[in-house]
Amino acid sequence: MSNVKTAVIFYSMGGTNLQLAKWAEEAAKEAGSEVRLLKVEELAPQSVIDANAAWKATVEAAKEIPTAASEDIEWADALIFSIPTRFGNLPSQMKQFLDTQGGLWASGKTVNKVVSGMTSAQNPHGGQEATLLSLYTSMMHWGAIIAAPGYTDPVLFGAGGNPYGTSVTVGQDGKMIENVEEAVKHQVKRTVSIAEWVKNGNQ
Ligand SMILES: Cc1cc2nc3c(=O)[nH]c(=O)nc-3n(C[C@H](O)[C@H](O)[C@H](O)COP(=O)(O)O)c2cc1C
Repeated sequence: MSNVKTAVIFYSMGGTNLQLAKWAEEAAKEAGSEVRLLKVEELAPQSVIDANAAWKATVEAAKEIPTAASEDIEWADALIFSIPTRFGNLPSQMKQFLDTQGGLWASGKTVNKVVSGMTSAQNPHGGQEATLLSLYTSMMHWGAIIAAPGYTDPVLFGAGGNPYGTSVTVGQDGKMIENVEEAVKHQVKRTVSIAEWVKNGNQ
């Protein structure tokens, strides 16, 4: 059992990042962490979602998952973010969530959170690293500690070898091209371990 609390926070339109987040939830539990799986608020109009079958199905599949709030960030020692690429950047839904944490940031409660990010894109070089860097830029402002996977396990090479965070390519059919489940699990377990060192070394 770990004393680290982990929040896995995702946005997903086509289901990929929902799946990555579920694997992350599983891995954090396997590491003995208490876990909250959380989505960020959808900002798109319902009519737009309804016109896209995959998007509608993802919203439906995530219906029972609670929406992330400041209290979840405050609660967590480790934060795992999972987000699709949007023109090499964060989706506005995640950006909106981060941008509404000004109060939490001002109270010093974002400091020393151990964070790690995962992403997906349609193309093998479609902006994965840039998306994670955008996330990590905000995390530096939060005073968070970034736990990038680097090349800390051979499993990462089979998953595309992105040292910034697990990333996966999504085909036209919406399915993941690389098998990244083990890379996600390695990344999350490593993040929980680092959060343990930070939390318990600070007592
Ligand atoms: C507005 C928009 C911008 C996108 N920009 C990119 C991009 O720059 N590069 C890329 O490879 N894929 C891009 N995509 C594809 C998404 O990244 C891809 O559909 C997503 O990673 C799938 O994740 P999800 O199933 O969790 O929604 C874009 C999609 C949308 C809707």
